[in-house]
Amino acid sequence: MASLETLRLQFQQRYGRAPRLFSAPGRVNLIGEHTDYNEGFVLPMAIERRTHVAAAPRADRRIRVFSQEMNEAAEFELSADLQPLEGKPSGAWVNYVRGVAACLDNDWFTLGGADLFITSDVPLGAGLSSSAALEAAVGFALLSVSEQSGSLLNVALALQKAEHEFAGTQCGIMDQYIACLGQADHALLIDCRSLGCENVPLQLGEARIVICNSGVRHALASGEYNTRRAECAEGVRRLAQHLPGIQSLRDVAIEEFDQIAQILPDAIRRRCNHVITENTRVAYAVDALKRGDLAFFGKLMTASHESLRHDYEVSCQELDVLVKLALRQPGVYGARMTGGGFGGSTVNLVEAAHINFFVEKVSHEYAKACGITPEILITGAEGGVREDQ
Ligand code: GLA
Repeated sequence: MASLETLRLQFQQRYGRAPRLFSAPGRVNLIGEHTDYNEGFVLPMAIERRTHVAAAPRADRRIRVFSQEMNEAAEFELSADLQPLEGKPSGAWVNYVRGVAACLDNDWFTLGGADLFITSDVPLGAGLSSSAALEAAVGFALLSVSEQSGSLLNVALALQKAEHEFAGTQCGIMDQYIACLGQADHALLIDCRSLGCENVPLQLGEARIVICNSGVRHALASGEYNTRRAECAEGVRRLAQHLPGIQSLRDVAIEEFDQIAQILPDAIRRRCNHVITENTRVAYAVDALKRGDLAFFGKLMTASHESLRHDYEVSCQELDVLVKLALRQPGVYGARMTGGGFGGSTVNLVEAAHINFFVEKVSHEYAKACGITPEILITGAEGGVREDQ
């Protein structure tokens, strides 16, 4: 990603006038995976990689957009019956833009036309939510140049709807929420039922968050994701016959679950076990972070990985190798896959003094085992969507 000045100039050259600049971050989830669509708890933070959008309003209802990374332009008219563009693979960038425009224009806000220029340094397909960064940056840019303002939570909900309807993933709210509402130097404990959150200071002492991108993305990811969601719903349906009044896995205590878990088919039992235990791990992790107990925080991260690998079955060989290699290095408190899974990245908590050795060792050993050189990022917690000057 070049400088904001370059982005301004590129916009000017393409569209012949001056833009305003907006950006939204990628995210890494520290713990609380696949709990968001079960009305549970998550603990993500925004990372130091952002998607930038230069934008200027138009007098008509046309959206013209150029993506620098894809080197591709698109145009469409804002209208009540905007649909995903046929013939594009699910997840095509242009459908995110169309989805964001459609869902923001119809639900809470009234948009006008705009010219947009997009550029990003959030790695694609790395489980770091480049899609929510794109949605949030485009959405915030469209709203701002249309002189609309409102609650960022409503923006996040509209972006989630865009992902459901235009990208085909029945995702939870975590990614859009943190892209909109992330706070610098904090992780966000999000209650995915009430949609309230608590900003938890990221007090890591001499340790750092290190992200390892496995470089793999499994093609089945979005289908498998929707299947997991359906399995959890089925678990709730069956458990409710014995625990009347439960609305979601959030309402089931571990002890209660252990007593009746045998009524569930094996796969569904394991999916539910992951979600129920993961919610507890998030609560303990927040407490550990507040006390500065990094050793316990790290143990919870690693336990989360084991649960995702064994019970939820959303890890893959490459992620498991990365976690195993990480845990063998000195100065590592914990390691786990992060995000939806089936490829993407791991998140690691590593003592700063050991990071150089960690990067060297894990890169080398992972390349030897899997034939891929991992991309490794060291990041602090950033702020959410914003206008840049
Ligand atoms: C993806 C989804 C999120 C969340 C994670 C798993 O990133 O977009 O809503 O479900 O997977 O925790």
